[in-house]
This record gives sequence, C-alpha cells and structure tokens, in this order.
Amino acid sequence: MSSFLLQGPVAVIGAGTMGIGIAQVAAAAGHNVLLFDVNVEASTRALTTLQQRLRQRVEAGKADANDTEQLLERIQVVTALSELAPCALAIEAIAERLDVKQSLFRDLEAICSQQTLFASNTSSLSITAIASALKHPQRMAGLHFFNPAPVMKLVEIVRGLETTQATLNLLQQLAVAWKKQPAICRSAPGFIVNRVARPFYAETLRALEEQVASPATLDAALRDAGGFAMGPLQLTDLIGQDVNYAVTESVFRAFGHDPRFQPSLVQQELVNAGHLGRKSGRGFYRYDSSSIQESPAFSCIENGSLPQRITAHGCWSSLPHFAALLQQNGIAIEEQKESAESAPFLRLDEVIFMLSKGKLSSEVAEEMRTPVVQFDLSANYQQASVITISAASCNTAAQTALVIRFLQSLGKNVIVLPDYPALLTLRTVAMLCNEALDALNKGIASAADLDLAMCRGVNYPLGPLAWGQQLGWQHILATLENLNAFYAEPRYRPTSLLRQLAAGYVSLSFSATQDLIP
Ligand code: NAI
Repeated sequence: MSSFLLQGPVAVIGAGTMGIGIAQVAAAAGHNVLLFDVNVEASTRALTTLQQRLRQRVEAGKADANDTEQLLERIQVVTALSELAPCALAIEAIAERLDVKQSLFRDLEAICSQQTLFASNTSSLSITAIASALKHPQRMAGLHFFNPAPVMKLVEIVRGLETTQATLNLLQQLAVAWKKQPAICRSAPGFIVNRVARPFYAETLRALEEQVASPATLDAALRDAGGFAMGPLQLTDLIGQDVNYAVTESVFRAFGHDPRFQPSLVQQELVNAGHLGRKSGRGFYRYDSSSIQESPAFSCIENGSLPQRITAHGCWSSLPHFAALLQQNGIAIEEQKESAESAPFLRLDEVIFMLSKGKLSSEVAEEMRTPVVQFDLSANYQQASVITISAASCNTAAQTALVIRFLQSLGKNVIVLPDYPALLTLRTVAMLCNEALDALNKGIASAADLDLAMCRGVNYPLGPLAWGQQLGWQHILATLENLNAFYAEPRYRPTSLLRQLAAGYVSLSFSATQDLIP
C-alpha cells in the first residue's frame, strides 16, 4: 500500500471517464480518495457505476469481496471544494480548458496546505501554462493517465518549466506504487504518446487518400503484416474520429502548423459527416449488425511454379526474423560471401526480392536492370500471418506470381499493393522513429522513456527507437530521404539526430538524457 508516500488523502476533481478511473487506481493502492465534481450527480453516478462494476467482478470470481468493499469505502464523494483542504495530492480531470483548469488550481491553492501537490490529467494543454496560475508552480506536474485508467499501464509524468525534481520524484514513486509504468517528459505539445504516434494514423490516412488500398487492406498491412495490435483506421474508429482529429489538429497548431502533423482531409470529412466510428455506428467501417465486414484483399496464386533457385545476399542481421523464417522453412540458401556488408536481398530465379528503402519498385528495377519485388517491414516476420509487397511495373505477371507463390509456401497471406514508396509499415516506422528522435534531440524525454511510452501507452510491438536501431539508422534515413525526394514535401524531412546516427557520429543511449534546458 502506497498511502505512506502521502500525508493525507488524494483529491480527484472531475468524476467523468478519467476521474473515476483515477480515483479507483488511487483507492486500490490504499489511499483515501475525495471525489469532487461541479455536477454532484456526476460524482454519485460515477461512484454507483464503479460499485456495480467492481461487485460484478466479485460475483464473477475475478476479485476478492473484502478487498473490493474496502476499496469502495475509501472513495468518498464531497460536494464542496473546501472539503478537499486536507488532501496531500490533488489530481484534476475536468474540462479540457486552460482558463477552467487555472481557475480550479487557484481555488485549490487557497484551500490546501503549502505541501499539497497538484497534478493535471490534461492531454493537450501546457502544464507550464496551467501551473502559471499558482503562486507556487514548483509543486505542479502533469499526471497523464490513459483510458481506461485502471487498465492502461502507462502514466506520463509531465514536467512544467517550474516543476521541481522533488515533485517529479514523488509522483514517479507514487506511479510505481500504483502499479503504473511512469515515463517522464517535458511539457511540450502532445507530451510523448500523442506526439510520437501522429504518423501512425497520418501515413495510413494518406495512403487511403491516395487510394492505395481499401481500409481493411491498409489495416491488415499494419496489423497482420506489420505487427501492430490494431490497424490505424480501426483504431481511430475506436478512439472516435472527432477525438483523434482534434488531437492531431491541436498538435499541428501547437507546432506552428508544421506539415509533418498536417491533419487528414479524409478524416475531416468523416468528422463533418458525423461518422465518428464505433460510437456513431459508422466510421471507416460500419458497426450495425446487418452490415458485412469488409475483408483485406489478399492475392492468391493457386497453381503457379515456385522458384527453382533461391540465393540470399548481403547481411541479414537487420532482419533477424526474416532470416529465421527462411531457416524455419528449410529453404536452401546459397550464402554469397562477397556481399556480407551490404543490404540483404533474395534472388528468386531472376527476381530480386528486397525490403523497401523508400523507392518505388519500378525505380529500383530500372537501376538494377532486373525484375524487382519489394516487401514491407514487419516487427516479426515469423509471427506475421501476412506479408505486404509491391512489384515493379516492368515485371511480367509470372515473375510477380512466382514471388507470391514463394511467400504462400512460407505460410503467408500476401497483400500486393500498387507500387507505393516505402509501402506502409516501413514509412510509418520511419516517421515514428523520426518523431521520437526529434523529441529525444529536444530533451522532451529519454530514449528509454520514449520507447516505454509507445509500447505501454499505445501497445506498439517494439519501441520506435529500438526498432530503428535494429533495422539500422541508415535504412531509416534512406527511406525518409527517398520519400522526401518522391513527394518533395517537408513532411518527410529527416531530423538532425537521425543524420548523425546514420553517419555513426553519435550512438543512441537508452539511459537518461542530459538535461540542458534549465
Ligand atoms: P469527462 O467529460 O468525461 O469528465 C469531466 C468531468 O469534469 C465532468 O463530470 C464535469 O462535470 C467535470 N467538471 C468540469 N469542469 C469542472 C470544474 N471546474 N470543477 C469540477 N468538475 C468539473 O472528461 P474526461 O474524458 O474524463 O477528461 C477529463 C480530462 O482528462 C481532460 O483534461 C482530458 O483531456 C483528459 N484526458 C482524457 C482522456 C480520455 O480518453 N477521455 C485520456 C487522457 C486524458
């Protein structure tokens, strides 16, 4: 029990979706919780719903009856702000408006003791700006829980310009005692997750806008081939198109309309139409029981021939799961010793089969004067049920079919995209890396906390930085440079730290960063 870390109860202000979840987390860790909402009914309703939900868990044999009743007894609804006077920590989860939050903390500062810590669960406002309303902004930080708060492991602890190390340390200890995994970051737009995750949605939304494939196929390329837990489009349907669009817009605005955060017109149209996703019954998909769910488009070759000769070239250490997949299938590989330092590729008869580096397959085929099929990145080629490819326009149908047959023989379903540079997972991961490196370079968070936040906050299969390091910074840089050249848009410009890593001038440390900003 973590109540010894604080000399008084925890106040939770705002009893909506997040507030009641945070109250549950604090009470489960042994704190007495005072729950306040301007709307008294909202507090009592939220507590009644929590009681029902937790007691159902007891009835289902999933929780202990005594523990549950004790937890519920620790949460007390209060009807006046003045009743929060004894709290040692006040966490607000009220309306997402700067003036409203500032006014609340001004009132709390007048009521509570000088030792009380203040925390905001804001997802988009500056902690520094909220804290500026306080006479003692040193004792205020962001405590950004993810929805649902009792389930999601990540808590971003956000340091405002005035937040002291002592405040951060105590909140960090509390988060650990509350069985959460804290990631510390500076107050900057989107903190870690809402900033670094933008390209996950943006790249697929762009591919949809460019009519590369259907929503179901695009989602399968990221989920079943790439290794993400959900496809970006199905995830935005779950989050709510309006909510996801608003986060992108707020980050875009906060970064001075930087084109790398440009909101999607396709998504804006969904919002305009009220197609908000699951909650409205329709988004990129339809959720009424009568509708037939769209399936991904796989290319299937029933009777084509398999390659007669397969040779592996280059160094496969950047693609360990692909090398293991070949071995696992007993594919006889003729190792080509002379090219041990270069990028890995397979030669399937006369067809070159390689991981994309951001160029069109047709362009690569022209350069190499040979038929080319490129494949997309995956977090784990062995586990993935699908592999995504694109073929050069000069290939004969039989040459591309040969590759599809080969991949089917490895047990994979195959998505054949039109010739699209960096396909889908590779361009997404390259952009996630770029964003994480930019945040690292600007001292927003350490490499370890950046990766932790993306794995625990949005369930990525690998942290973007660990993923980039495994694939190789040169590959990530080349991908972005090729996309930059293809689109001639500043969206894909590589960040300075990526250039330094790719050149080998610096290496990535997963220990804490040196803090240069005072
Ligand atoms: P909500 O709308 O479900 O609940 C907000 C509650 O605050 C309402 O019950 C309202 O009556 C109350 N309230 C509003 N102004 C108040 C005031 N001045 N004093 C006391 N109570 C007041 O909102 P939700 O979704 O729980 O969000 C709350 C905060 O958490 C926002 O800052 C939001 O950005 C942030 N957040 C939301 C997440 C989500 O997924 N919903 C995730 C992470 C953060």
